[in-house]
Amino acid sequence: MLYIGIDLGTSAAKLLLMDETGDIQNIVTKEYPLEFPQPGWSQQNPEDWVRAIEEGIPELLSGSDASQVSGIGAGGQMHGLVVLDEEDNVIRPAILWNDGRTAEQVEYLNNEIGKEKLSQYTANIAFAGFTAPKLLWMKQEEPELFAKIAKIMLPKDYINYILSGVHCTDVSDASGMLLFDVKNKCWSREMLDICGVKECQMAKIFESYEPVGTILPEMAKKLGLPETVVIAAGAGDNAAAAVGTGTVGDGACNISLGTSGTIFISSETFGVDENNALHSFAHADGRYHLMGCMLSAASCNKWLMDDIFQTKDYAGEQLPITEEKLGKNHVFFLPYLMGERSPINDTNARGTFIGMTMDTTRADLTQAVLEGVAFAIRDSFEVAKSLGIDIERSNICGGGAKSPLWKRIFANVLNVKLDIVASEQGPGMGGAMLAMVADGTYPNVNAACENLVHVVDTIEPEPELVARYEQRYQQFRSIYPACRELFPKIM
Ligand code: XUL
Repeated sequence: MLYIGIDLGTSAAKLLLMDETGDIQNIVTKEYPLEFPQPGWSQQNPEDWVRAIEEGIPELLSGSDASQVSGIGAGGQMHGLVVLDEEDNVIRPAILWNDGRTAEQVEYLNNEIGKEKLSQYTANIAFAGFTAPKLLWMKQEEPELFAKIAKIMLPKDYINYILSGVHCTDVSDASGMLLFDVKNKCWSREMLDICGVKECQMAKIFESYEPVGTILPEMAKKLGLPETVVIAAGAGDNAAAAVGTGTVGDGACNISLGTSGTIFISSETFGVDENNALHSFAHADGRYHLMGCMLSAASCNKWLMDDIFQTKDYAGEQLPITEEKLGKNHVFFLPYLMGERSPINDTNARGTFIGMTMDTTRADLTQAVLEGVAFAIRDSFEVAKSLGIDIERSNICGGGAKSPLWKRIFANVLNVKLDIVASEQGPGMGGAMLAMVADGTYPNVNAACENLVHVVDTIEPEPELVARYEQRYQQFRSIYPACRELFPKIM
């Protein structure tokens, strides 16, 4: 039996073909453009995602027996607002998770409606990237388009709709809309009223591992798949990545170093951090999780390498960062290239290098970027610790996790053991695993994880380095408060 896992990311759709033993047979990546029409805005065209899937799946299947494909499951970039009209046509480009245009609407939700009420209705407060403030923005700025909305969807749900014809979503992704009552796993009537939308405009809710239906016959034909292929509800990319790294059960942790950087802590029971600094969302295993999300993680390094240094030799740039340099860098970097979400919730924050002298090298800047991202993840990690959550070890996945140096920096900045799983294809692998539960191959997500996810290495923190990084982290922590008032003035 074969399964297709879709990781519907921000820069590309990564597709993988896996058999029921977890053996990955093929991987295809299809990139698509990202638009920044104004500073801090971030949009994408849903038709580009569809094109990536329609071109990518036949390529993925070439050389394999497509008749063996039993299921498809997706993990998708979260929070993106996809709006469809009565004929299910896309009304405007999707407004993405890292878009910061909704500062005014976030202010209204958090301060006029009030954080307490939001938390009571949804278990979360408003952040600029969440879906509800984007609806309020559309209502105010694009009233004619807002009036045409017949369906409100999330990115991977739009793909599932194209594949299955069903307007569906799953509990983990729905959690990030600020329209969903996370504890009771249903749409929040109060939040729908606040945003001026009706329940009939929302998608049908499924657990992530449930089948939403089978592939539409015309799609099966187009993609070269059997008509029996089951479409799983799938999950937000972080919950899918957690499944793909075996981060299920109570207190398990996963760090994802993709375009965004997240720390994800799974939980058997529902819980809310009383300051709502961490998101309280449903997990793809049927339970819950807490999560901190930074908006620019591996993307900071990509920006420095591709746009500033104009090189593709990421590993080569890290070579001069030798043993004796770790924990001793005087250059710091605030990784707020798209503003920041967790835990500071500041759309005005900006990327900042500080501490350079005449002897600062190119490698010092690279090191500052790698360290700045780890320090910023530690900010969310500290919030988790303040809630009494004891994290001794974590999984790690995402493009940034390909760098041995970066993983070592993370283990020492956080002082945790980092477990490395055999496949770092987080969301795609998780998506394929959810499809295996959806078609009944595994009875539940835990069983799929036990059978398919294997830890192959562990990076241990080194006490001397931990101590050096502790000092550096305390210095890093004082930089943002010193700059906070300045950022809005230098826009
Ligand atoms: C999570 C978040 C990001 C996106 C990235 O809250 O916004 O991790 O899901 O794709």
